[in-house]
Amino acid sequence: MNEFTIDTRIRSYSWDELSESDKQLLEVAKRKTRDSYSPYSHFCVGAAARLADGTIVGGSNQENAAYPSGLCAERTVLFAAGAQYPAQPVQTLAIAAFTDGHFTEDPVSPCGACRQVMLETEHRYHQPMRVLLFGANHVYEFNSAESLLPFSFISDDLKGGVRER
Ligand code: THU
Repeated sequence: MNEFTIDTRIRSYSWDELSESDKQLLEVAKRKTRDSYSPYSHFCVGAAARLADGTIVGGSNQENAAYPSGLCAERTVLFAAGAQYPAQPVQTLAIAAFTDGHFTEDPVSPCGACRQVMLETEHRYHQPMRVLLFGANHVYEFNSAESLLPFSFISDDLKGGVRER
């Protein structure tokens, strides 16, 4: 029997410790929670992507009476960025959530489907995408989407065989 572990490095920042550009991106994600269309969950999520040329693309979750037809904020933003600026790698993605009259105290945690799309974005542009998760108490930073979704299914898996993970 062999055993192995996969480590994830998460950095936790107070607001004052963040760089100005990260604060700016998080502020866009926070502001975008106001545009959330979430009449069913009342859980308002905002996201903002900083592209390589400095463009910031923002978005929010968009729900639907047929629940699975809605889309999370992260995928709304990443698909919008990919559709409008296909040549621009996504360098950093920031996410925030607002419910019951306040931003979540702990950092919001992206769902599995969004992590899969975040990973595809990273592979698409052959560079890591930093992820910032806002919480009123602290902000988490991940160096890559892969660190949020270890042991993942990627395009290489479609070809079968052995690969380095
Ligand atoms: N949601 C997001 O937009 N992002 C997340 O990371 C978690 C969940 C949305 C989906 C749905 O509209 C609502 O939050 C409740 O799940």
